[in-house]
Amino acid sequence: MQGGHYFLLLFVGPLVSVSIACSTEHANQTTFDVSDYGAVSGGHIDDSEAFLKAWNAACASETENPTLIVPPKRFLLNPIVFSGPCRAKNINFLIFGRLLAPDSPGAWKELDPSQWLAFNGVSGLNIAGPGRINGRGKAWWDQSCRDHPRLVGCSTLAPTAVKLVSCKNSSISEIHFVNSSQTHVLIRDCDGINIENVLIEAPERSPNTDGIHISASHNVVITNAIIGTGDDCVSIGDHTSNIAISYVKCGPGHGISIGSLGRSGNFVQVENIHVSKVYLQGTTNGARIKTWQVGRGYVRRVTFEHIFFRSVKNPIIIDQNYCNKSDACKEMETGVHITDVSFNQLYGTSSSRVAVNLNCSRSVACTSIYLKSIYLRSALAGQNVTSNCTNAHGVAFGVIQPDPCL
Ligand SMILES: *[C@@H]1O[C@H](CO)[C@@H](O)[C@H](O)[C@H]1NC(C)=O
Ligand SMILES: *[C@@H]1O[C@H](CO)[C@@H](O)[C@H](O)[C@H]1NC(C)=O
Ligand SMILES: *[C@@H]1O[C@H](CO)[C@@H](O)[C@H](O)[C@H]1NC(C)=O
Ligand SMILES: *[C@@H]1O[C@H](CO)[C@@H](O)[C@H](O)[C@H]1NC(C)=O
Ligand SMILES: *[C@@H]1O[C@H](CO)[C@@H](O)[C@H](O)[C@H]1NC(C)=O
Ligand SMILES: *[C@@H]1O[C@H](CO)[C@@H](O)[C@H](O)[C@H]1NC(C)=O
Ligand SMILES: *[C@@H]1O[C@H](CO)[C@@H](O)[C@H](O)[C@H]1NC(C)=O
Repeated sequence: MQGGHYFLLLFVGPLVSVSIACSTEHANQTTFDVSDYGAVSGGHIDDSEAFLKAWNAACASETENPTLIVPPKRFLLNPIVFSGPCRAKNINFLIFGRLLAPDSPGAWKELDPSQWLAFNGVSGLNIAGPGRINGRGKAWWDQSCRDHPRLVGCSTLAPTAVKLVSCKNSSISEIHFVNSSQTHVLIRDCDGINIENVLIEAPERSPNTDGIHISASHNVVITNAIIGTGDDCVSIGDHTSNIAISYVKCGPGHGISIGSLGRSGNFVQVENIHVSKVYLQGTTNGARIKTWQVGRGYVRRVTFEHIFFRSVKNPIIIDQNYCNKSDACKEMETGVHITDVSFNQLYGTSSSRVAVNLNCSRSVACTSIYLKSIYLRSALAGQNVTSNCTNAHGVAFGVIQPDPCL
């Protein structure tokens, strides 16, 4: 099993076939090419106004499937918000070309620094490739407070490349995301989202460049994704349910994470999270749940299954004592209850000694944790791996290595 890529079904490529009706009658216009609205290709002139005009026309269109088209060229876009609701039930945003973010944070002067391309309140939105969205985040990384804490005027917040907020029945497919200044794709307050065949790439050392972050959303499917960034490949935040993640290759990065949850002492509600067929390579974490002691509420009905690790630092980890000051978390009476979590058929190698770490709180212990069919070895020759359970209760079944602590 070692070596070799285990999931051959991963693919990313220009697989869409599009048929575009070239109607020119304005009233029934179905395609809205940004070039017809004044966008100038080349990547040197800001085209956000032209994109907004094309979007507004498509969004107001009475035809069934209005389609905004970005031709196969380069376009520079300043921060922009595409707002809904639109008149049609579905609206397509078809990117054949490349969208480039401004290469300097100066372009955000007086604008919301948390976003670059935002879609707000749109239903039936289909963002499709085969195009590329380049956040050109380097200048933001260079002024990040995390990496440069002593820098005067450093930023804790940088723009997310694509943000979908308050959306329904939407999808993102066949897009290649690179170098976002912070999170690449953020889904918030949405219901019914499909993300498939995406490739997301940023340097291992880029700060907070999560691949996909989901919060306050339900019924989200992520499948066939290749993600390698400086932070979580996929992270799942609070108020989320019915999330299915499968056929993901992750690395470098921080793995597939549920959390961190409950930071502000809020009541956490996370349930029905299913992660399967994931290959993690050289990541800091594999299957992870992390919560703050100050939080309340629950995380329940979570499955991580059919996962293959290659040299992952913490392949299986629940950290209910998560905090931002290392080794200085005071013990509290509160906690997020983590229950009904199953780790099933997890194989591969760990680059640290503790391959299974279930670190739960004394006051709100983890319950109904299942470890089934697990075989983890050390990535280092001659080393052993162990598991370490603290306040974790459940059942281990068919765990070959490390010796289960449940
Ligand atoms: C628009 O489409 C409708 C129905 O498909 C048709 O009845 C109408 O004549 C069309 N209008 C124009 C301006 O083409
Ligand atoms: C979303 O899709 C579901 C199922 O296809 C449909 O019943 C529902 O009306 C759609 N919602 C919106 C807002 O389009
Ligand atoms: C992403 O950023 C890094 C660091 O600036 C750079 O080396 C790399 O070429 C960029 N990737 C792309 C596809 O632009
Ligand atoms: C468990 O969490 C506590 C508090 O953060 C920490 O001190 C301890 O080292 C952790 N144990 C393991 C095995 O990671
Ligand atoms: C840690 O988190 C707390 C609570 O969110 C916050 O008040 C504090 O400033 C943070 N400390 C650091 C070092 O980030
Ligand atoms: C690994 O475990 C085996 C069997 O328990 C033991 O003989 C060996 O000394 C251990 N190796 C290390 C490096 O701890
Ligand atoms: C588990 O972790 C605790 C610290 O959280 C440590 O005291 C203990 O020795 C560890 N047990 C094993 C078996 O590694």
